[in-house]
Amino acid sequence: MGLNLLGSLYLFGEFVGSRENPTALPNFSLKDPIAIEAEIECILNRLTLEEKIDLCHAQSKFSSMGVPRLGIPELWMSDGPHGVRAEFEWDSWNKANWTNDEITAFPALTCLASTFNPELSWAYGFALGEEARYRDKDVLLGPGVNIYRTPLNGRNFEYMGEDPYLASRMVVPYIQGVQKNGVAACVKHFALNNQEYWRNKVNVELSDRALHEIYLPAFKAAVQEGGVWTLMGAYNKVRGQYACHNEFLLMDILKEKWGFDGVVISDWNATHDTKEAALYGLDIEMGTGTNGMDVSKLDHYDYYFLAKPFLEAIENGAIDEAFLDDKVRRILRLNFRTAMNPYKPLGRKNNPEHHAVALQVAEEGIVLLKNESNFFPIKDQAGVTIAIIGENATRPMTIGGGSSGLKAEFEISPLEGIREYYQSAKIVHALGYESGPSDYNQVMAPSSNRSKLLEEAIEVARDADYVLFVGGLNKSRNQDCEGGDRLSYGLPFNQEAIINELYEVNPNIGVLLVSGNAVALPWLDKVKGLIQTWYLGSMTGQAIANIVGGSANPSGKLPFTFPKKLTDNGAHYFGEHSYPGVDFEQNYEEGILVGYRWHDTMGIDAEFAFGHGLSYTDFSIEGIVVNSVQYHLDDDIRIALSISNTGKMAGSEVVQVYVGKPNSKVHRAKKELKGFKKVDLRPSETKQITIDIPVSDLNYYDPNRANWHLERGMYHLFVGTASDQILKKIKIMIK
Ligand code: GLC
Repeated sequence: MGLNLLGSLYLFGEFVGSRENPTALPNFSLKDPIAIEAEIECILNRLTLEEKIDLCHAQSKFSSMGVPRLGIPELWMSDGPHGVRAEFEWDSWNKANWTNDEITAFPALTCLASTFNPELSWAYGFALGEEARYRDKDVLLGPGVNIYRTPLNGRNFEYMGEDPYLASRMVVPYIQGVQKNGVAACVKHFALNNQEYWRNKVNVELSDRALHEIYLPAFKAAVQEGGVWTLMGAYNKVRGQYACHNEFLLMDILKEKWGFDGVVISDWNATHDTKEAALYGLDIEMGTGTNGMDVSKLDHYDYYFLAKPFLEAIENGAIDEAFLDDKVRRILRLNFRTAMNPYKPLGRKNNPEHHAVALQVAEEGIVLLKNESNFFPIKDQAGVTIAIIGENATRPMTIGGGSSGLKAEFEISPLEGIREYYQSAKIVHALGYESGPSDYNQVMAPSSNRSKLLEEAIEVARDADYVLFVGGLNKSRNQDCEGGDRLSYGLPFNQEAIINELYEVNPNIGVLLVSGNAVALPWLDKVKGLIQTWYLGSMTGQAIANIVGGSANPSGKLPFTFPKKLTDNGAHYFGEHSYPGVDFEQNYEEGILVGYRWHDTMGIDAEFAFGHGLSYTDFSIEGIVVNSVQYHLDDDIRIALSISNTGKMAGSEVVQVYVGKPNSKVHRAKKELKGFKKVDLRPSETKQITIDIPVSDLNYYDPNRANWHLERGMYHLFVGTASDQILKKIKIMIK
């Protein structure tokens, strides 16, 4: 089949992107997939075996080959989920030190999840995709949606929390926003990379129900609803086979059952075998001989598993060329969607609109956890002194953390933001503690002048009207950082002692936690206010100041549980073989009871519950009703209610609907999130809202059927504003 004119023009890159508003333009890949498929077949027939093989592996640290002879461009990839990573040298882990790769650092994805706002997630993805487009990247290596199973996981801050429904609802629009720019999103790390400890070699065993009900749904939504164009295989093994060439995960589930038509990219140095990679679904091998951040051996690209060894295996008949052709089709399809997509907008970066998105996500994601006697907001008024204490008030957080670390054009620190905001109050500051360098490879050295720092902090706090301790974790090794898990649940660097000392001299104290994970809060009763502020990117200080000062009203809800102690968490209840594993073998013994599912079902109170988050205003919810008392499989359960803002400040509330089945024939969590809606309300405003839950969402995964199944009978709907703030329980029947 000859190339039609349109097709031939793409091959020689005749088209250039349009400057009009990109959102108005058709997305080529959706416009005429038939034309693309025809062109792919035509190109495939013209490729030599060597050219086909070249497409299936890296040519540099972050790029894979095209077909120069036919004018098919190479594919350029870049981290990460929160912003476009700085440029590296062609074949080393040295930064290239370009002068045009500073970007907007958006808040970490755990903050995005905390907004419970899917529309905002689209805006986040679109803005990030524009910056990736501007940096001329074809694949953005994000979002990550591994489930928050343990509070020790070093990379939880990059992911979307402990609940598969929340992660599914939030990941879909992010992907659609990114890809609207002709840049591929890359949902990662598929699958079960839920810890950094032994990430390169741990073998994960778990039940079919936990796999399908907890760990796969966000990936399935990314593929089937988000239409994600690429997916990254994980480092670990699943049921004995490496995830990057795992027949069960990549062939049976991802490509056959879910119908994924995109490209599977390996994590860097996560490929281990030619035959498995050829037969079990890996399409582009990246980073062999390195680990995605450093540790580069001489990994000459011809010796990749999918390079010469793959070529020889085909030439000697050990592997059928059809396996190679499938990879080539997928890679060409990705190329038509990105590098060869003539409708791509030109992209832009560091512009006011992107800063506004980053600020809004930060403000809407910040969670007000505790606010005794309305400690927050702290009004700006003359004669008031506010003491800001703690290293995280000034420490840069857009760097560090591993591959998601960024070279931001700017980053407003909490202290800078607070100084800028408070024009009348007096702001005083002390470091309080210091943790050492923030690079990925640094192990934390406790500060030598710890007592001096503490004395200074005490001095500054003693006479202040308000004390704000800005602490938490940071993005250095064994903190919130790739490549290692935290070694304990509490705050590091002597912070607990400092908070206690500050309380002794001034009980009017609040704490801002800059972190991406739950931590132990033994000092909780001593502080009046507590705010979870995440890693917020370039606009950190402005968002924090707006919330602390009250010009923005917090509306974030926790996307994961804060257990009181580590052993209250399901992953840490069953001993070492469940976390972190023994001899590289691990079994997820808690099964489907992850996070609040565990706490609710086992009756273990959490310090702060999934879905919890306070506001500066008050809401009242009335008239909670459902549209029927009995339903059939293809019905929607419609919950209706009216919600009012009874306070003096505009604000937003997230109404949440959980579903549980008493007396079920199968093991179940007490309740599971199946619907939510964020509602913005002016003071005294009332809105009627509805939340629809397809009855099919009540299915459980039945291992005996190897499929989803709907159990008939009575269910409970739990309607509330947090998993532990249930306002009404309604019985319904499924016929
Ligand atoms: C890293 C990470 C992955 C990242 C890749 C490239 O090791 O696991 O998330 O995209 O390698 O840096």
